[in-house]
Amino acid sequence: SNTTASAAERAQDAVNNERLQSAIAALAAFGGRDDGGVSRETLTPIDLAARRHLIDYARSLGCEVGIDDCANLFFRRAGTSDRTPVLTGSHADTQPVGGKLDGAYGVLAGLEVIAALNDAGIRTVRPIEVVAWTNEEGSRFGPGTMGSSAFVTPSLLDGYRQSVDKDGIVMGDALDAALKEVPDVPRRAMALPMEAYVELHIEQGPVLERANAALGVVTGIQSVRWYRVVCTGMAAHAGTTPMDERSDAMAAAMAIATQLYARADQEAAHNIRLTLGRWHVGPNSINTIPGEVEFTIDVRCVDAAVLDRFERFLQDVTSQHAWRGNITFENLFYRAPTAFPQPMLDLIEKACTRASDLAQRGAPKKVTSGAFHDAMYMADHCPTGMIFVPSKDGISHNAAEETAPADLYLGVQALAYTMVELANR
Ligand code: GLV
Ligand code: MN
Ligand code: MN
Ligand code: MN
Repeated sequence: SNTTASAAERAQDAVNNERLQSAIAALAAFGGRDDGGVSRETLTPIDLAARRHLIDYARSLGCEVGIDDCANLFFRRAGTSDRTPVLTGSHADTQPVGGKLDGAYGVLAGLEVIAALNDAGIRTVRPIEVVAWTNEEGSRFGPGTMGSSAFVTPSLLDGYRQSVDKDGIVMGDALDAALKEVPDVPRRAMALPMEAYVELHIEQGPVLERANAALGVVTGIQSVRWYRVVCTGMAAHAGTTPMDERSDAMAAAMAIATQLYARADQEAAHNIRLTLGRWHVGPNSINTIPGEVEFTIDVRCVDAAVLDRFERFLQDVTSQHAWRGNITFENLFYRAPTAFPQPMLDLIEKACTRASDLAQRGAPKKVTSGAFHDAMYMADHCPTGMIFVPSKDGISHNAAEETAPADLYLGVQALAYTMVELANR
């Protein structure tokens, strides 16, 4: 063995790819689907079972486990001091139909770093903690990045607890049930000081693959806004109501949607991203005029000014419609663009470069995240950074989400190096 190697280099070299891949497969079994995808929305019974699995795995690695009021799970490897810990992790919840890597990879990568440190007999000065944030996705209870934003700003939790899923289940009740499920795990405070936070994630887009880069140094995260638009008209008979006497909520919603897409086309030069992803039609009957249509807007851009313009347009379009029904919109989620600090980018670039060089792969590439992540709220709390690995064909939020095992391995190697450097400062 190389006696001149630093602790960070030895940690990087101790990452065990086979153990990593089997940990990914084991967690993917919770909510695993025949098509290779995973359905494990936050705080569902299958998510609670996955959490138990993570607790058992972390304990087998010697970690101390804790949980906070938002059911964020923390796995702690002691340092040689009680100085503030260095945190890594991601989320274990998925979209209604997601892949096995979005989120899960970052949590299991953190645990693999701990296993590698154990194997190599490396003690770090600061404790290392791995977190599994609650409800990053926001698909069941809104908004997304719930656990991390509540960790950073605990006063948000009261409002979050009011969120209701499509079956009428209240977030607060689901949260209390999740906490009751783990009586053996001590409660810990929110907003605890952290020395740094580093999140490893799949890119979920095509940039790294197209550049043939195995690793991405994430410079920041684009801004995101979510809205709900509600069009209320009057349900009436499809065969008897004259066209010019209808108050058709679907006609109104489609007119608005068409104008929003046209607006997005006009902003194409700014790389705006617009998604009208969730629709509710009432009464949703073939021969009744829709009396109520509700749809969501997810709009993103690296330039906050573009989203300001978009919101003014939404305001105009919903208030100036020539229609006898009622239209309202409300903001569900807002986050400004996030920029990660330069010293963190430099460290991550160094870690990624060593991993890529050893594997004789191309240089790491600087990228902006199109997806949002828990790291965007942690960036308000402590020095934060992210590492990306490529996504096959750029696909995510889909059962076909995939990353080459060799790339998953390099990502964890880069994480191990970064964590040890930070934990020995
Ligand atoms: C999170 O999954 C996002 O939509 O970016
Ligand atoms: Mn994710
Ligand atoms: Mn996701
Ligand atoms: Mn996400």
